Amino acid sequence: MIRTTRRRAVLLCAAWLALALAIADGVEGCGNDPSTEGGDARGASGRSEDFAARATDFRNLRTMTKVRGFYIDNRRSHLAEALRVANSPKGGTYPVGTIIQLVPQEAMVKRRKGFDPATNDWEFFFLSVSPTGTVIEVRGTDKVVNRFGGNCASCHSAADPKFDFVCEHDHGCAPLPIGDDVIRIVQSIDPRPVS
Ligand code: HEC
Repeated sequence: MIRTTRRRAVLLCAAWLALALAIADGVEGCGNDPSTEGGDARGASGRSEDFAARATDFRNLRTMTKVRGFYIDNRRSHLAEALRVANSPKGGTYPVGTIIQLVPQEAMVKRRKGFDPATNDWEFFFLSVSPTGTVIEVRGTDKVVNRFGGNCASCHSAADPKFDFVCEHDHGCAPLPIGDDVIRIVQSIDPRPVS
């Protein structure tokens, strides 16, 4: 019992440390990439459907659908298709508007076809989160790094191509330097409002 309590305390500490680092990183890493800002092409004739996320598009993880260890949503009404890909052992390409998150502070968002072939059209985000909501600290394709200095795109591009940059534990990416225990805690203390 004592050992369990101690272990939980250590894990909580690690989670808070990770969060503190995330916030510090966010401040340092400030600077939106203007090339990734932009119009939402939905409905525009002759252009493919797109989704340029705004801060309010990133909500508490509990409002998203959990698939195994990660959370998924879609802001272009393609959630069923996104879930089909996520749940298929054969993988597939996620539809435009898909948001995937492992922790509240990081996200990958599927943009229009051709947005960036090098990232399979994913845009990566480093976010800061608080009870008042989400702030986008950094967004982009090949330059966004996580709180440990690791480049999102280089790590995720190692995933087996059929899984469209989604790493999980066994798709071929280098592992994260924190364990599942810490990730679960960071997920469970998402401070943003649920409604
Ligand atoms: C060291 C390599 C590495 C780096 C750098 C990295 N990730 Fe990941 N990421 C992983 C691994 C491995 C997983 C799966 C972990 C798990 O399932 O517990 C993962 C999981 C995720 C997931 C959930 C879906 C999936 O792929 O399993 C998202 C979303 C995500 N990362 C986004 C990001 C973003 C955004 C960045 C940059 C800010 C980033 N990652 C940087 C390796 C990395």
